[in-house]
Amino acid sequence: MGKNITVGTLGHIFLWSICCCLLLFVPSAGNTANYSDSAHGDPGYGVLRSSMPSTYAQGNCGHCHEQHEAAKSGLLFATNFSGKMTNPYTAADNACFQCHQDASSQSGGITNNNYSATFGGATAESDSIMDAFNQSSYHNLYDIQQYITGSRGTKSFSNFSALYNPCSGCHNAHLAKANKRSTGDPTETVMSKPSDHENLWGDDNGTTELMTSYGTGYQPPLYDGSSTLLEPDGLSTSATTQAGKTPNYNAFCTDCHNSTNVIYSTELGRNLRTFNWSLEVHGEDTASDDSSSYSGWGGSGSETEMQSPYSDSNLGSYVLSCMDCHEPHGSSNAYLIRTSINAGSVSLPSGSSNWDNVCSRCHAVASDLRNLHHRVKDDGDYSCSDCHIGSTRDGNIRPCIECHYHGSSFRGLKTF
Ligand code: HEC
Ligand code: HEC
Ligand code: HEC
Ligand code: HEC
Ligand code: HEC
Ligand code: HEC
Ligand code: HEC
Ligand code: HEC
Repeated sequence: MGKNITVGTLGHIFLWSICCCLLLFVPSAGNTANYSDSAHGDPGYGVLRSSMPSTYAQGNCGHCHEQHEAAKSGLLFATNFSGKMTNPYTAADNACFQCHQDASSQSGGITNNNYSATFGGATAESDSIMDAFNQSSYHNLYDIQQYITGSRGTKSFSNFSALYNPCSGCHNAHLAKANKRSTGDPTETVMSKPSDHENLWGDDNGTTELMTSYGTGYQPPLYDGSSTLLEPDGLSTSATTQAGKTPNYNAFCTDCHNSTNVIYSTELGRNLRTFNWSLEVHGEDTASDDSSSYSGWGGSGSETEMQSPYSDSNLGSYVLSCMDCHEPHGSSNAYLIRTSINAGSVSLPSGSSNWDNVCSRCHAVASDLRNLHHRVKDDGDYSCSDCHIGSTRDGNIRPCIECHYHGSSFRGLKTF
């Protein structure tokens, strides 16, 4: 919020500003105070192309825009987006990848670790944005561009013009800051909601832009390597303190992923399932502490359902963040699932059905959830084969997400 550069303003300043930048070599600071606050506009670490004359100061617009590149959309120095329909991508596919690629494969590349590393303290699985998008599960850039420009699907925000880069669905290259440089300071956010592209999202304290907007509901997961310190910077054990450092990713992601928008996924070969985060147990709906309510078949009557820092007695009051489970760009795990959740590594390659690897980072392991499941069997709503694969009634149970998935009919739970 609060960054009121508008497309119109940029349009007005475009001619003389670009001219200043490109012809008179005057940095654009002054008329674009917000740009100069941005990561790209920073005179110390902002944009810099070595092929440009040294008269172009670091951070200058001219490192991205060239007035003689009329053939390229947005007067960018490289093709904005090639339209490639699936990964792997090369730098030639997206102007952002010209710089946001592995520092070891090109001098001047930029280190951007995956979310689990930067905000979770885990070992980096990918260290550049291009690497992140080149993993087996990723936000498909073609689908995103088709979607935001209105070529496909339905949405609750205005169409972006056809020249826009898919990355611009989530970022504004003129405003984005460098959260990675101070992971506990959300005023350094990188995000712009697609419905509010001309502002940053996450930088407004005391509003819906932070995870504190759920009261005490948000319990940040553990920070890697600690049994008490919490994300996003691993500097405090207080859930409220840490929630106040975390942008409201839910409101950001649900600008696209909500109960009405129709979104096609090339990777999944179907429209995404719609869901309403306010009606899901992991979202704003309430779970219940059922561990003591069943002492049937083999049940002790009291079993611990949750792993630390979550506690059974607080079940029903938690609201999770999308980023507790997902990466924003890509992952080696299916459905962009993080490779480290709640301070433990998670392996779930595409095609794997071992969803318990994911769930048990926060819940008790499947064998300890047996009684909770057998309770519903005894209620008569489910038969053995709804859960058990084959005739042997043992640990071989169906993938958790066959019943527990976003958008399923009952609180994130399939009813038969
Ligand atoms: C000419 C090189 C260049 C291009 C092209 C470029 N960037 Fe950047 N970008 C940078 C540099 C340099 C930084 C600052 C890196 C740092 O903080 O160390 C940066 C930072 C960022 C940040 C803040 C996070 C960070 O690493 O500081 C975001 C978000 C970002 N860029 C997004 C984009 C998007 C989206 C595009 C394409 C529309 C893009 N960039 C194109 C050079 C570039
Ligand atoms: C679906 C939304 C989405 C899309 C599309 C997207 N990003 Fe991001 N990006 C995010 C979110 C959310 C974050 C914040 C989490 C983080 O910093 O890791 C982020 C973070 C970043 C960062 C900062 C990473 C760091 O080191 O902290 C950069 C740089 C970036 N994105 C560049 C890009 C580029 C380039 C593209 C296009 C190739 C792109 N993004 C596409 C959502 C998106
Ligand atoms: C600008 C709109 C937009 C925003 C914002 C957005 N997404 Fe997406 N998302 C898409 C589109 C389009 C697809 C379908 C293409 C694909 O599957 O990659 C998608 C697909 C996905 C998928 C399924 C990917 C797969 O192939 O399995 C997941 C998971 C996902 N998004 C999570 C998120 C999360 C988490 C956020 C917030 C950080 C987010 N999205 C924000 C547009 C968006
Ligand atoms: C990191 C690269 C980068 C830098 C630096 C940058 N821009 Fe841009 N700019 C873009 C991209 C990318 C687009 C095309 C829109 C899109 O794809 O999101 C764009 C589009 C524009 C547009 C057209 C806007 C529209 O929506 O029609 C104007 C005007 C503009 N830039 C002016 C500037 C000025 C002035 C500066 C310096 C103050 C600047 N840009 C710095 C990447 C950059
Ligand atoms: C990042 C931690 C985390 C992960 C990973 C996680 N959950 Fe949860 N889950 C929770 C929390 C916290 C609650 C309680 C929500 C509340 O209080 O409303 C919950 C609630 C639930 C509930 C409702 C429980 C009740 O008592 O009503 C179900 C069912 C569930 N999760 C299933 C799953 C499945 C299946 C997976 C794996 C695909 C999974 N969860 C992964 C944290 C997690
Ligand atoms: C709602 C799901 C669900 C239903 C319905 C269900 N089970 Fe189970 N069952 C489980 C889960 C979960 C486990 C624990 C799996 C594990 O250990 O990994 C389990 C474990 C078992 C075990 C192994 C017990 C042990 O720990 O040694 C047996 C035997 C079993 N179930 C029999 C049955 C029979 C017989 C029925 C039908 C009358 C049935 N189950 C119905 C979910 C279910
Ligand atoms: C065939 C469908 C089915 C499958 C497969 C399944 N569950 Fe469940 N699960 C249920 C039902 C039904 C309940 C009871 C919901 C209730 O009582 O509100 C339940 C309850 C739960 C609960 C919350 C218990 C509570 O407190 O009410 C958790 C956590 C959970 N399941 C996790 C898992 C995990 C992890 C897996 C995979 C190892 C899994 N489930 C597989 C149907 C299933
Ligand atoms: C507790 C972990 C967890 C949280 C929190 C979570 N997700 Fe997911 N997400 C999953 C799992 C597991 C899947 C795969 C099964 C499914 O579709 O639910 C998934 C799948 C998806 C998909 C693909 C749906 C499809 O059609 O296959 C999208 C899109 C998505 N998530 C977006 C989000 C957004 C947006 C948020 C936050 C509002 C979010 N997720 C929060 C675990 C989580």
